[in-house]
Amino acid sequence: MKRKTQWFDDDAFWAMFKPSLFGEERWQLAARDAEPLVKLLCLKPKAGVLDLCCGPGRFCIELARRGFRVTGVDRTVLYLAEARRRAKEEKLDVEFVRQDMRLFCRPRAFDACINMFTSFGYFDDPADDLKVCRHVLRSLRPGGRFLIQAAGKEWLARNFQPSDWREEAGNFILEERKVAPGWTGLENRWVLIQNGKVSEFRFFLRVYSGVELRGLLLRAGFARVDVYGGLNAEPYDHNARWLVAVGRK
Ligand SMILES: C[S@@+](CC[C@H](N)C(=O)[O-])C[C@H]1O[C@@H](n2cnc3c(N)ncnc32)[C@H](O)[C@@H]1O
Repeated sequence: MKRKTQWFDDDAFWAMFKPSLFGEERWQLAARDAEPLVKLLCLKPKAGVLDLCCGPGRFCIELARRGFRVTGVDRTVLYLAEARRRAKEEKLDVEFVRQDMRLFCRPRAFDACINMFTSFGYFDDPADDLKVCRHVLRSLRPGGRFLIQAAGKEWLARNFQPSDWREEAGNFILEERKVAPGWTGLENRWVLIQNGKVSEFRFFLRVYSGVELRGLLLRAGFARVDVYGGLNAEPYDHNARWLVAVGRK
């Protein structure tokens, strides 16, 4: 049976917002974050890492440069093409797989899995998030770690802006957000005005608090889950900018 398409199935969305999501400074952040990430995941030399929702390969490239054996999974052909091109340019041996994050599962194949930059909580049905975590758990070797980096509900509530806009390279980007009933997530409306042409996208993002994300990973079967406020193992407190959860198999 063919599944119902959802907002993230729309290639036009990822293509139009690519310059805004993956500008030069975003690549620099990955270069900065790679070392703390390696530390937090306790990666041994040549460990196997799954980058789930790898996008154009920011972390795949950084980790492969450091000698890890990397597999990147993503649904967006355009991003995978860029990831492959960048890896080839540097003669890095990275495996890229086009697949939906809910379907990818390779039992006991990896020492760690990462899901970076709010690539989680995209599904209408919360059971799908649980399914992703269960597949990751199966894909890890005993003792393996799963790290999710997302915008946490606490930060979003504290810094809530119903709308904002910015200008980037002559284009205008407007973002509107509403809290979904019961704080289950955010209803987003992103508008791009490019050479006078207006494109509008609406999407729902499920957002998790620290307690909720930890609970989800425990429910999926992870033996232990630690929650941090950033990749440098900052505390998840009132100053935390990111929600970083690390589940251990
Ligand atoms: C915000 S981007 C983050 C990319 C990357 N993790 C990074 O930090 O640069 C989210 C990514 O999730 C991918 N994605 C969205 N829905 C997906 C799905 N159902 N299965 C696999 N990938 C998905 C998109 O194609 C996009 O590359």
